[in-house]
Amino acid sequence: MDYKAYLVEENEGSFSGSIQNLPKPSLDEGKVIIKVNYSSLNYKDALAATGVRGIAKFYPFVPGIDLAGEIFESSSSKFDVGDKVLATGYKIGMSEFGGFGEIVHLPSEWVLKMPMNLTFEKAMSYGTAGITAAACVKKIVDAGIEKKLPILVSGSTGGVGSVAVGVLSLLGYEVHAITSKVDEEKFLLKMGASKVLLKDDFMKEPTKPLDKGLYGGAVDVVGGDMLAKIISMTSNHGVVSCCGNVGGAIFSSSVFPFILRGVQLSGIDSAESSLSLKKELWNLLANDWSINLQSQTRIINIDAIDDEITKILNGDQIGRVVIKHGE
Ligand SMILES: NC(=O)c1ccc[n+]([C@@H]2O[C@H](COP(=O)([O-])OP(=O)(O)OC[C@H]3O[C@@H](n4cnc5c(N)ncnc54)[C@H](OP(=O)(O)O)[C@@H]3O)[C@@H](O)[C@H]2O)c1
Repeated sequence: MDYKAYLVEENEGSFSGSIQNLPKPSLDEGKVIIKVNYSSLNYKDALAATGVRGIAKFYPFVPGIDLAGEIFESSSSKFDVGDKVLATGYKIGMSEFGGFGEIVHLPSEWVLKMPMNLTFEKAMSYGTAGITAAACVKKIVDAGIEKKLPILVSGSTGGVGSVAVGVLSLLGYEVHAITSKVDEEKFLLKMGASKVLLKDDFMKEPTKPLDKGLYGGAVDVVGGDMLAKIISMTSNHGVVSCCGNVGGAIFSSSVFPFILRGVQLSGIDSAESSLSLKKELWNLLANDWSINLQSQTRIINIDAIDDEITKILNGDQIGRVVIKHGE
């Protein structure tokens, strides 16, 4: 049996992907084979698809760090054929072929049964970006951050950012959304932001060692200089959830926000989170933290992935891109 997949190949140092038919793997002990119904596009997939070092372990390779589908074959007592499941992170789309193929072969301990109240499509509308946003928000909620001051979200029209805006606003926080896209104010207000700040305005003044503490916390996907600025503007005992580096990996900060305000910089690594934390985050997104993602989700066929990869690398994506297999 063959299955369809987006296979990225390396040719003399340049990388390109194409749709190929690949042979179904045979089932290894402790693993499951999943028929993938939906996957989604995350920033990391675009890096893997373009050969950026440190993501895919080898080429030819099938990216796709998340997926939802049905158990097709199982050598695990935890799963029966036909079970509805989802999986995100660990080494999926890094050293194991990922959700850009119609079949995946994964260790059973990476796989979760689908929570009640979640369809395959909705699960992948959240995808890795969604549970990462939920993990960021949970840091803020668990720290008991009050709702007196707004929470900042950077990269707010992207996957992680837009879900963070929606969930924070659902929970009653006032959300200030930073974006580089001058035309997307309406989108962000619809997602639940109370105020939209243009990136260039936000970054105009040089970052001070300690600025006015205007924000109770933040979800930052941008990193670099923006993260430094956000930290300096976080109020007493605020929490900054740091999960991305689209704007840069290096930042410098004074110690003052930490030693004079007790600000916490909280790192997020959703890929290697425990399965129990992932289960908790999925249950929140399926129930109490469920937001309507329809207006920010585009469903595509895997054949159309190349353009979407270019867009996400250029920072031009708005919301989420979901891949529907089998058509
Ligand atoms: N730590 C984890 O567990 C984890 C998990 C998932 C993702 N991530 C990381 O989180 C980041 C965002 O992922 P994503 O899936 O949300 O990507 P995305 O959909 O591309 O969103 C990123 C957003 O950041 C903004 N942006 C892009 N380039 C920028 C730049 N050069 N400077 C400033 N802003 C820029 C854009 O929003 P605006 O135009 O609205 O500003 C863009 O839409 C990536 O670094 C990704 O690797 C981390």
